Amino acid sequence: MSSADPAAMQPRRFLPTGALKGELRVPGDKSISHRSIMLGALAVGETRVTGLLEGEDVLATAAAMRAMGASVLRQAQDDRGNAEWRIHGVGVGALLQPQAPLDMGNSGTSTRLLMGLVATHAIETRFFGDASLSKRPMGRVIEPLSQMGAAFEASEGGKLPLTVRGANPAVPIEYRLPVASAQVKSAVLLAGLNTPGITTVFEPVPTRDHSERMLRGFGAELDVEELDGATGLERVIRIRGEAELRPQMIDVPGDPSSAAFFIVAALVVPGSELLIRNVGLNPTRAGLVQVLRAMGGDIAEVNPREVGGEPVADLLVRHSMLKGIDVDPAVAPSMIDEFPVLFVAAALAQGTTVTRGLDELRVKESDRLSAMAAALTTVGARVRETEDGLTIEGTGGEPLNGGGPIATHLDHRIAMSMAVAGLVSRDGVEVDDTRPIATSFPVFEALLDGLGSA
Ligand code: S3P
Repeated sequence: MSSADPAAMQPRRFLPTGALKGELRVPGDKSISHRSIMLGALAVGETRVTGLLEGEDVLATAAAMRAMGASVLRQAQDDRGNAEWRIHGVGVGALLQPQAPLDMGNSGTSTRLLMGLVATHAIETRFFGDASLSKRPMGRVIEPLSQMGAAFEASEGGKLPLTVRGANPAVPIEYRLPVASAQVKSAVLLAGLNTPGITTVFEPVPTRDHSERMLRGFGAELDVEELDGATGLERVIRIRGEAELRPQMIDVPGDPSSAAFFIVAALVVPGSELLIRNVGLNPTRAGLVQVLRAMGGDIAEVNPREVGGEPVADLLVRHSMLKGIDVDPAVAPSMIDEFPVLFVAAALAQGTTVTRGLDELRVKESDRLSAMAAALTTVGARVRETEDGLTIEGTGGEPLNGGGPIATHLDHRIAMSMAVAGLVSRDGVEVDDTRPIATSFPVFEALLDGLGSA
């Protein structure tokens, strides 16, 4: 993305709307899309993927896997934009050294997971990214991957651009995650795929388990055990290396993190009733629905089913008078990407919402605590930023003043959250740049505009 160029910024004012009615289908899950391309690129034979998210982040993963020898092709299926992706993998251990540095764009998931993959291949790989990604900490993956034998040359503070010299053979490790991070867990497990013996990750706080589910689906020997740890139950994940992966047919379920914007929009815009189809409800991702229900949100699950080995349902969401609550910090990992839009819901609720334990939000695509505190304050909400959370005094359903421009800091979720805030504002909310939305949810604006004012 060329988002470093301020002249090319695409500002937009999101206007107040009438009731949102109708139905929509959310695009494929970003986490699952990344993983299906990576594992497909390591399996020998043809993996076919439908429902893949065609956002910039996932396309960065696809380009990287092509640069390392896999064939990753899009095949149009119909004229409604549906496609099947066909991936021919190279086999675990057979990734080729890329000819040029890999452009990771805005994508932390591509970067950290691929660092894991290449760390146990005998190749040298250079990674770079946009201004947002170049500020994010990579030390959290450099540390365990160094223990496995890989060597790193990183920019100051363990940041991009960086070079990885993979170790082969690598050394299996037992690693206890110091931060609740599915990306770090996945980087170690993916590195373990090409490491002789058993690589073990101890996870004191459960995070999204898509890597574990999909690695098993592709035939890796992976087991998960729950053991008593120092701070309660701890998940222990073991993977046997030098694995042979078998190609799969994958149907990617809809992304709950994308559905989140429409769930909150339907709850806060008076008179709304939206049916959001195809929402992934893996328990390690479903925290937002739980918290919004505790705030009084009317969210019903219709037609629960399984898609691609993941629980999915359609969600029927009706406008509700939300009440502020104290959000239990333990729920944070299962809704880590949904806090920006939860803060918007809290700003329109009755009473006070308190969030804590959210230090990780400071190292996402932007510092989401300070970015959302500033954004919501600009549009007239009452917000106090603490070290590890926000305390928000809601309007009790009264529209926010609106205003802007809101600084989105190259962060798609800040842009989409403030778009939702604009729907319940007097003057609308101007977002300084909508381009980052394409990293995870390219059809967001089209879907929102399609619902229109009823
Ligand atoms: C992701 C893990 C989370 C999340 C990110 C996607 C993944 O990051 O914020 O959007 O696909 O593994 P952390 O591992 O940094 O919490």
